[in-house]
Amino acid sequence: MKVLVTGGLGYIGSHTAVELQNKGYNVVIIDDLSNSSKDVLNGIKNITKITPEFEEIDLKEKSKVQDFFNRHKDIVGVIHFAASKAVGESVNQPLMYYENNISTLIYVLQEMKKLNKQNFIFSSSCTVYGQADKLPINEDAPIKIVESPYGNTKQIGEEIIKDLCKVSSLKAVALRYFNPVGAHSTAEIGELPLGVPQNLVPYITQTGIGLREKLSVFGDDYPTEDGTCIRDYIHVVDLAKAHVVALQRLLEEKSTSNFEVFNLGTGKGSSVLDVIESFERVSNTKLNYKIAKRREGDVVAAYADTTKANNELDWKAELTLDDAMLSAWEWEQKIRN
Ligand code: WQD
Repeated sequence: MKVLVTGGLGYIGSHTAVELQNKGYNVVIIDDLSNSSKDVLNGIKNITKITPEFEEIDLKEKSKVQDFFNRHKDIVGVIHFAASKAVGESVNQPLMYYENNISTLIYVLQEMKKLNKQNFIFSSSCTVYGQADKLPINEDAPIKIVESPYGNTKQIGEEIIKDLCKVSSLKAVALRYFNPVGAHSTAEIGELPLGVPQNLVPYITQTGIGLREKLSVFGDDYPTEDGTCIRDYIHVVDLAKAHVVALQRLLEEKSTSNFEVFNLGTGKGSSVLDVIESFERVSNTKLNYKIAKRREGDVVAAYADTTKANNELDWKAELTLDDAMLSAWEWEQKIRN
């Protein structure tokens, strides 16, 4: 069965392509290579021995999207990762984010509707909750006004999909990721941040390998046990497997409504210092870091209530923070050699 993975050469997309192939799906990847590289195709092939079909398409080009779907009428489902995802960048370039993240979603949905394709999985984010009032965060937590255009594109994206599901045969699942970290155990694929990493874990591994001089810990005066922010760091392979399970749910028509939402996390909160300690433990190196001032827009704490995904998707994160930090470190060493 043929599955389209948009943004499939990206971090989560490539790990999902591997897990789909492991389950026997025929994967077709669309990527515009704006934040990834064609080399990732080799990484996927080195893991699964199958090179996914790939087309370099900018999904903002509506005619190209139409042409693609006309040539791939046998697609059984779409997993839509393609989007820009740097929170800070989105604040400075709102129009680029709204155009890239929203118009591409609309063009893909339009073609699915035309072809009466119904199975759609949307890459969403726990960012939609802002600073939740209650922890752990479940799917009924109120959607808060988010500060970044990036987070807003995820909220708007979910609304667009939900509205379409009401008046068409589309059946969709929005997966709200907490903090994806780590790399494939083969070190064939992993996170490839362009430029200075915005996220904590790639900054840690680049500091560990000497690419960065020192990690700045953005604030240790938060109302948490050690004063640093708490997040739910989920191994990217666990996250990828959840996408396959969600697709199978749609294909087997087990959804309980046309539009479903699942939080994907481990259910465990870890502080920044916990992550640093994990890295030092698994890499057997001391990390060079300093305490710096808070980063604008950071929430104090966010970690998932995983009950719904555990029960309804029959999926549970199995890998630990140490597994994630070790795989991230092995990946960093691999790409720097
Ligand atoms: C984690 C913690 C920082 C860097 C964002 C997006 C989310 C998703 C994941 C796309 C925070 C601290 C970080 C550093 C630090 N992105 N930190 N020094 O902000 O929780 O989530 O990335 O889908 O949608 O919002 O992740 O890794 O940037 O930060 O101290 O150099 O690490 O303050 O507490 P975040 P992050």
